[in-house]
Amino acid sequence: MAEILKLAVLGDPVEHSLSPRIHAAFGQQLGYEVDYGRVQTNAEQLPDRLKQLRDGGAVGVNLTVPLKSAGIRLCQRIDSAGRRARAVNTLHWQNGGWVGHNTDGAGVMIDLDRLQVSVSGRRVLILGAGGATAGILDPLLTAEPAEVLLVNRSAERAVELADRFAHRGPIEGAGLDESSASIHDFDVLIQATSAGHAGKLPPLRRAWLNRDAEVYDLNYGPAHASLQRWANAFDLPCHDGLGMLVSQAALAFEIWTGQRPDIEPALRLLYDD
Ligand code: ATR
Repeated sequence: MAEILKLAVLGDPVEHSLSPRIHAAFGQQLGYEVDYGRVQTNAEQLPDRLKQLRDGGAVGVNLTVPLKSAGIRLCQRIDSAGRRARAVNTLHWQNGGWVGHNTDGAGVMIDLDRLQVSVSGRRVLILGAGGATAGILDPLLTAEPAEVLLVNRSAERAVELADRFAHRGPIEGAGLDESSASIHDFDVLIQATSAGHAGKLPPLRRAWLNRDAEVYDLNYGPAHASLQRWANAFDLPCHDGLGMLVSQAALAFEIWTGQRPDIEPALRLLYDD
């Protein structure tokens, strides 16, 4: 008989989360019966919800917006990626407590690799300086880009986040308004703002990127649409963040079970919808 894995994703909002489908596909692939719930949870409710899930036998939990930093306080141990990002997206019940992990950054790197978008030795422009960016900076800098420029609507946030990671590699932060005219010739653009969720395109200029530049969006689905249209207008290759979503989930599944699923079948399932 297949082993039953009790799992859940917690967040606010959470009703549209694709995680239950992704983990069901992983379970099918690797012979687990997956019971994966979606639990609407705000930061205040998080301790109680985690206890209820644990009482029900849950061994793993994913945290999504806005719980990734709140989760840190409830873990007995946190992996190095979670400590550096100051955020956790995966909890694993071990030895009487939750161990926190952050698989977002490693998920992006797996996906960039799959898409053959290289950052090594290249100039990388990141738009946005929120939680999503904090999650990816460490593995991105480990891949040794020539330079990372972090630009954000609020300059202060960009400078502060870049300073936090400056010991890991060549990174600078700047505000969009004052730096816009001096940005040029970047090889890779990573879109990490939440503007797409409001149907908006973050401020962008074609002149920021060189002729062969590639665009990678951490958003997917409707939140990705405006960036894809912008990139199409300039014939720039542009990828959505669905592969990152499935990759970070595969790493979480591996933490819970010791087995890493193949991401392609789950990815095909989501794209075929
Ligand atoms: P997440 O966890 O998704 O990163 P977040 O921490 O709230 O969410 O960060 C959202 C990011 O999107 C921020 O960089 C935000 O810019 P500010 O720091 O200036 O608020 C950015 N953002 C959201 N809406 C935007 C818009 N319409 N234009 C430009 N940037 C936007």
